[in-house]
Amino acid sequence: MILAENMSILRQLPDACIDLVYIDPPFGTGQVRRLQAIRTGVGTKTRSGFGGRTYTFDVISAHEYRDDMDLDEYLEFLGERLVEIHRVLRPTGSLYLHLDFHTVHYARLMLDEIFGADHFLNEIIWAYDYGGRPQDRWPRKHDNMLWYAKSDRWVFNVDGIDRIPYMAPGLVGPEKAARGKLPTDVWWMTIVPTNSRERTGYPTQKPVGLVERIIRASSNPGDLVADFFCGSGTVGVAAKRLNRRFLLVDNNSEAIRITNERLENEPC
Ligand SMILES: C[S@@+](CC[C@H](N)C(=O)[O-])C[C@H]1O[C@@H](n2cnc3c(N)ncnc32)[C@H](O)[C@@H]1O
Repeated sequence: MILAENMSILRQLPDACIDLVYIDPPFGTGQVRRLQAIRTGVGTKTRSGFGGRTYTFDVISAHEYRDDMDLDEYLEFLGERLVEIHRVLRPTGSLYLHLDFHTVHYARLMLDEIFGADHFLNEIIWAYDYGGRPQDRWPRKHDNMLWYAKSDRWVFNVDGIDRIPYMAPGLVGPEKAARGKLPTDVWWMTIVPTNSRERTGYPTQKPVGLVERIIRASSNPGDLVADFFCGSGTVGVAAKRLNRRFLLVDNNSEAIRITNERLENEPC
């Protein structure tokens, strides 16, 4: 776990030392993201959560990180980190880059150049159903994850992946229905609910189930998994649960504090 500007860490790493990278960088939204850590069940402030229920909370710290670079600056920022990530991946390693509609199309072209278009494996759609529904367009309810391999040999543990229910279990027979089916490249998963135990108060926190699926599929026990934009440390939690080693970097002290606390509470 390192509190640092990630480029300075990436530049110090030797070639081909990491098995799997998942990153969820700023999305190029043009906004300043406010990071407010809250603790629920205490304090005098109230919020409404799922089903209109209200709960009390206290702000334990507030930070912001800037996601307001102009497009050229953002693409340069992302591109130079992707080049380094490609360098530090082992020959059998792979990268999952988590973005959304703002910049995923640019990132795809950059990754084709850096990794080679033939090393593109999947664009995974993470579909969720949360928040408001504008009345003038289809509600935007998905993120995009681009998966690229370093070489022609990559890890995909098809038998280790969690299985999901069939849509029409009656059509496949009881045995298959009980086993479930492999997820496709569209993953329906809820965001981290505001009142769940998993919730840290870090606004951009991703569900640990999402990252666990990636780590199970694309690494082996004992492998080194890295997240150079670790935020609340979701990759560390998933890696620890799945017996992988991890390297986590963030330049926000609040992110590292939360990550540390989460990992300490995670049984070995
Ligand atoms: C979208 S959040 C990641 C959230 C994380 N996936 C989670 O589940 O909590 C992006 C993170 O990148 C960090 N960050 C942005 N630029 C950075 C940089 N140049 N070096 C290190 N961390 C950076 C921010 O502080 C923020 O915590």
